[in-house]
Amino acid sequence: MMASLSTPPATAGVSPSPRPSLLAYKKAAGLTPSPWCGWRRAAVATAATSSNRTAAPAETIVTGNDVPLLSFAEVAERLDEFHASGTRNQNYMAMYSSIFGGITTNPSAMVIPIDDHMVHRGHGVFDTAAIMNGHLYELEQHLDRFLKSASMAKITLPFDRSTIRSILIQTVSASKCTQGSLRYWLSVGPGDFQLSSAGCANSALYAIVIESPSLPVPAGCKVITSSIPIKSQQFAVMKSVNYLPNALTKVEGEENGGFTGIWLDDEGFVAEGSNMNVGFVTQSKELLMPRFDKILSGCTAKRVLTLAKQLVADGRLSGISSRNVSVQEGKAADEMMLIGSGILVKPVVQWDDQIIGSGKEGPIAQMLFNLILEDMRSGPPSVRIPVSY
Ligand SMILES: Cc1ncc(COP(=O)(O)O)c(C=O)c1O
Repeated sequence: MMASLSTPPATAGVSPSPRPSLLAYKKAAGLTPSPWCGWRRAAVATAATSSNRTAAPAETIVTGNDVPLLSFAEVAERLDEFHASGTRNQNYMAMYSSIFGGITTNPSAMVIPIDDHMVHRGHGVFDTAAIMNGHLYELEQHLDRFLKSASMAKITLPFDRSTIRSILIQTVSASKCTQGSLRYWLSVGPGDFQLSSAGCANSALYAIVIESPSLPVPAGCKVITSSIPIKSQQFAVMKSVNYLPNALTKVEGEENGGFTGIWLDDEGFVAEGSNMNVGFVTQSKELLMPRFDKILSGCTAKRVLTLAKQLVADGRLSGISSRNVSVQEGKAADEMMLIGSGILVKPVVQWDDQIIGSGKEGPIAQMLFNLILEDMRSGPPSVRIPVSY
């Protein structure tokens, strides 16, 4: 988070600025590194008694002057230490921010303002695109959805579509990343901590490139029916940053030994997964997907529906349809699969207590996975935008 770091006020309980170098300060103050490379006094008093220790976490009383008041340079140094500590388990190659109006490849500088309404009010939207062999996959399709989400969230664009597109491609180019993903956000912008966005002078665009050399594998998984309420239609069809229900659905699935949770809609029909769509192959060999009217219109799922026509042409599928799918029909399917840009096509072999089909990864899911992967590697220009590095 970015904070105003100029001429900090002298505050009781914090050390005054300017201060000696960070290392000298740490030594003089007897500080030790915390696991995330912040620094904390070794000596603290604990207010827990032996009897309440099991009932509640011990409360740590921090003694005076524990929290240092830092200069901008010291904050930068600590951000570098935080990054070097290995807490992050993904490789961030470049970030664009309209706040600083450029691209940085220094992960320590990949920050956004804490008064951005996307941070404290969830007033922002986002989208992604895969980077494969130096090409952006389905960028136009994801951009269409991104701008639609922004319009539904009443976020005025900071730039026109072609400028946003160009910024995104330039960010990938600066990152030198040829395999991974691009994630980007439009926020109503920074300005204050109000709920209204009236005080946000300009909307903001952020983008980040994440390297991931390994490809997803189409290994079978288990899913569970989510007990977390599904988002209402208005919010489910837009990709806003309000992903708490999605995160809890994923966590609940994992807590129950599964890959994720599956939502049912308000009428009890199959809806979608935490951050993926759902598809089935019926006993009559039809590829079946729930309609997109109450869920996120998945770019990967829509591409799968197009590519699957090849399997109809060669007789492996009898047809393709998008309609309401009951839980009973879904659980009785020959195959079930999760579909999304992160996983591509992932076979489901068990849903709650029900084994799906043979209980093994189905052949159609495997073929659809291969078709999407091939499309990412050598599909038409409508789905592959080359990046010049
Ligand atoms: C709720 C939800 N549904 C479906 C999807 C799949 O969409 P896509 O294939 O565009 O990644 C996502 C992922 O973004 C999602 O968040």
